[in-house]
Amino acid sequence: MIFRKYVLSVCITLVILLFSACVEQTSENKIRIGFSQAMTNDDWRRSMNNAMLLQTSLHPNIELTIRDGNYEVEKQIEQVEGLIADSLDIIIVSPIQSKPITPVVEKALNLGIPVLVVDRKTENQKYTAYLGADNIEVGRNAAKEIIASNTKDSIRIIEIKGLLGSSPAEERSIGFHQTIDQYPMTKAVASIEGDWEKESIQQKFKTLLEENPNVDYVFAHNDRMAVGAWEVARNMGLEHQIDFIGVDGLSGPNGGIQAVKDNILKATVLYPTGGDEAIKLALKILNKELVPKNNILSTTIINEVNADIMKNQFDRINEQQNNIEQQLFALGDLEDRYSAQSNLLKIVMALLAIILALALYSIYSIFAIRKKIDS
Ligand code: FRU
Repeated sequence: MIFRKYVLSVCITLVILLFSACVEQTSENKIRIGFSQAMTNDDWRRSMNNAMLLQTSLHPNIELTIRDGNYEVEKQIEQVEGLIADSLDIIIVSPIQSKPITPVVEKALNLGIPVLVVDRKTENQKYTAYLGADNIEVGRNAAKEIIASNTKDSIRIIEIKGLLGSSPAEERSIGFHQTIDQYPMTKAVASIEGDWEKESIQQKFKTLLEENPNVDYVFAHNDRMAVGAWEVARNMGLEHQIDFIGVDGLSGPNGGIQAVKDNILKATVLYPTGGDEAIKLALKILNKELVPKNNILSTTIINEVNADIMKNQFDRINEQQNNIEQQLFALGDLEDRYSAQSNLLKIVMALLAIILALALYSIYSIFAIRKKIDS
């Protein structure tokens, strides 16, 4: 009787072991990073997300959740609330606008969740750390390039701004004016408020040019709006009279570097996304390392002098990233095959053990029956 019970419990234990061996590892020990991205409809944002995902895939213990705010301020606030409710280990935020997101960032911080703000800032310094290029410097660089590339006595400039209430738009404008105001030959003759997308400025720019086509230079706060303005000028036959400078300097066929090489833009100011640095910084914060409050990425001018060099460099970086991605993919594939095979081995071993236990039980039963018959 005791032996029968023993055999039964061995069988049950083996079946439990069998199931637990096949169930995937839970994410309990993983570091969970939540990223609230402002929007993902442009290449700059997509490249930022890709850099984050690539950096994350180098650390098997990190789980990255990306939420897309889709340009909707309320939605972004709700998404950060969701990341707080899910008790993420750290939250990274790239705000659509500075003011509305500030209270929920403070809330996360007060609840003990570190917050890393990237690219666009919140209204105050109540975050763990900030990462991004210095947008005042970006504006100054654009102004310096306009002045350096001109021999005219008077340069009439139109400024095309990014979304009102987003810190890069405000800071790029401040830096730009700080510099051009020092030079008597540069005149900011008009400005247009955009929302970072070219559709937001094309009609306004057309109206401005119709009223007064006497313009020498356009400084747009990003390359998408700069190219949009160039399209308007081209349709009016003014593209050779006006020079255009943007910001971002993305590589790739639709990026600012190619626009400089194609003589659409006179120049662009590099504005790195900092995607990989953001993940590295998040890990340092979680490891309780001391990090600077403000982490500034470097920026530079890209014009006809260095566009080829920059393109080659970025092409090489992209190539290396693709190689890493392929290797990671191959590794993942190997890992899957290894775990499938080791699961299969465990199942076979468990089945063998069950068969063995049943065989022992049968032998025992035969002996028990014989004993009964004999007595
Ligand atoms: C991308 C973008 C960039 C710009 C940045 C400013 O969504 O519009 O073009 O440099 O945001 O935050």
